[in-house]
Amino acid sequence: MVELPTPRRGEDPYLRVTDLRVRFDTEDGVVKAVDGVSFAVERGRTLGIVGESGSGKSVTSLAILGLHNAKRTTISGEISVGGRQLVGLREEEIRRLRGRDMAMIFQDPLSALHPYYSVGRQIAEAYRVHHPRAGKREARSRAVDMLGRVGIPQPAKRFDQFPHEFSGGMRQRAMIAMALVNDPDLLIADEPTTALDVTVQAQILDLLADLQAEFRSAIILITHDLGVVSQVADDVLVMYAGRAVEHGSVERVLRAPQHPYTWGLLSSVPSLHGDADADLVPIPGNPPSLINLPSGCAFHPRCRWAGVNGDRSRTEIPELGPAGAPGHLVACHLPVAARERIYRDEVAQVGVAR
Ligand SMILES: Nc1ncnc2c1ncn2[C@@H]1O[C@H](COP(=O)(O)OP(=O)(O)O)[C@@H](O)[C@H]1O
Ligand code: SF4
Ligand SMILES: [Mg+2]
Repeated sequence: MVELPTPRRGEDPYLRVTDLRVRFDTEDGVVKAVDGVSFAVERGRTLGIVGESGSGKSVTSLAILGLHNAKRTTISGEISVGGRQLVGLREEEIRRLRGRDMAMIFQDPLSALHPYYSVGRQIAEAYRVHHPRAGKREARSRAVDMLGRVGIPQPAKRFDQFPHEFSGGMRQRAMIAMALVNDPDLLIADEPTTALDVTVQAQILDLLADLQAEFRSAIILITHDLGVVSQVADDVLVMYAGRAVEHGSVERVLRAPQHPYTWGLLSSVPSLHGDADADLVPIPGNPPSLINLPSGCAFHPRCRWAGVNGDRSRTEIPELGPAGAPGHLVACHLPVAARERIYRDEVAQVGVAR
């Protein structure tokens, strides 16, 4: 087993995912959406999971929350939350943990908020589901308190308003209030700011950081944007085609990225771009079909350096292995010396973050 970037402070991580595989049986074939992913998150820390659309980020988080439809879905590996094994647990047992010990924030708050009930009532109900002895008044005051905590002005008045009376940013705050109303130890935020403009996005990310300091929850932040990761995450897992291709502390991965795919992601983020005048370089091509993965390294059809090591990139799947610093892992066949030279001379040169 390779050494994972966490834990770092001798604490047992709250969440540990080991060799997670998620497959969907479809008419077109078997979709290998997640294929052997491992990571851990301690309380008080944030793991960013990053990758282009279709790389398996949401499928990973839905597996942790037990939200996959059991039919036509095969899940294997281990998911341990607060010391409990989740894979194989009965649906109702997972449901009990969901909302109390772990909660999720989605990209689109309207998918989580019911249009016909007031925002406050929905938050209060979320509280009562897990606190059956709480009265209406207690639940209401708890919901008002949460609305205030996430920065919604005049929370007592806002309590009675409906989702459509909230702006996009305020709805996102309301959903965060609902996710946090039961003090979950694990919070999964799936592209929570993708639909918001830059200013509101920054406010929401600040809010998550503040709430984490207060609640000391373990957070997984899913995004396609390494810029977002650089702002809030402690560790980062880069996913491509259902597999982890790079994993390590944010500091290390942004300062010394090792995988050509990570280089590509970095070159397409303006704020992380080393040279503001250099062109942003999108990664050529598209992510592959997860039914028919390219042979060897799934990234090879899009990788400029696939030929550096003879045929290896096309024939052999690279395993995640040490990348030069403790806890930093990469899955790429490039020999260390070649990788360092390429990064220095061909990648950093044209303006990837340094
Ligand atoms: N229920 C499902 N049935 C079949 N394929 C699915 C299902 N859910 C997701 N997928 C596929 O799994 C892959 C990963 O999806 P997802 O995790 O949503 O990607 P993202 O990284 O954008 O969040 C995609 O190819 C998607 O089409
Ligand atoms: S293994 Fe080969 S194709 Fe894959 S990222 Fe490394 S160099 Fe590129
Ligand atoms: Mg997604």
